Amino acid sequence: MLQLIRPGVALPIETIADRPLDLPALFPGLSRFECEIGFCSAIFLNEYANRHPDTGILGIEKKRSYFLRGLHNLERKLKQDNVRIINFDAHPVLLMLLPPGALDALHIYFPDPWPKKRHQRNRLVNRDNLKMFHERLRPGGRIHLATDHPDYAAFIERELTAITGLFDRLPYGTADREVLTKWEKKQIENGMPINYYLLEKR
Ligand SMILES: C[S@@+](CC[C@H](N)C(=O)[O-])C[C@H]1O[C@@H](n2cnc3c(N)ncnc32)[C@H](O)[C@@H]1O
Repeated sequence: MLQLIRPGVALPIETIADRPLDLPALFPGLSRFECEIGFCSAIFLNEYANRHPDTGILGIEKKRSYFLRGLHNLERKLKQDNVRIINFDAHPVLLMLLPPGALDALHIYFPDPWPKKRHQRNRLVNRDNLKMFHERLRPGGRIHLATDHPDYAAFIERELTAITGLFDRLPYGTADREVLTKWEKKQIENGMPINYYLLEKR
């Protein structure tokens, strides 16, 4: 049985699925809220949360083993009570449980590329989901996105063209990154090119 140091960090999906998430109630005293989809072992999530104690951060990770690794990391290293994590597919969580305008920022780093043509419909960052993410952001809210997969990058460019008018694309590159993810550090060490996107809701 996993012993939780902070009993409130993990939100079991069965306890939260019956009504929209009330972020101010989940993060008492905080008024800025962000979300990371696919936090894996929570290397970025933990460090980013520690640097932003004024921000409540919701982490969503669908793979159980990664979620548990992330939970373990947060239990050891998180310095304050500003993270809640959910072990589920982020799409229905954002679509059905997050109210419109709830988020100041959404972080999606190295989403699964689904390289085979017939699997591309599984890509998380597509035009429909970008519209849905847009709705979940406050005006001026931002999406931080990165991929090292050239075909996914080209796909994202096409999807962004299809939703012209929703976001302003701001300059963003490695030098602008405050905290790196685990995969990002590895790919930078390997000299792999990374495509970054910073999208601001109009
Ligand atoms: C390639 S890994 C990148 C991990 C981490 N973001 C990093 O940069 O080191 C993609 C992660 O996203 C998670 N993931 C993929 N689709 C997801 C979804 N729909 N909802 C939640 N997590 C998802 C995967 O389980 C995996 O942990």
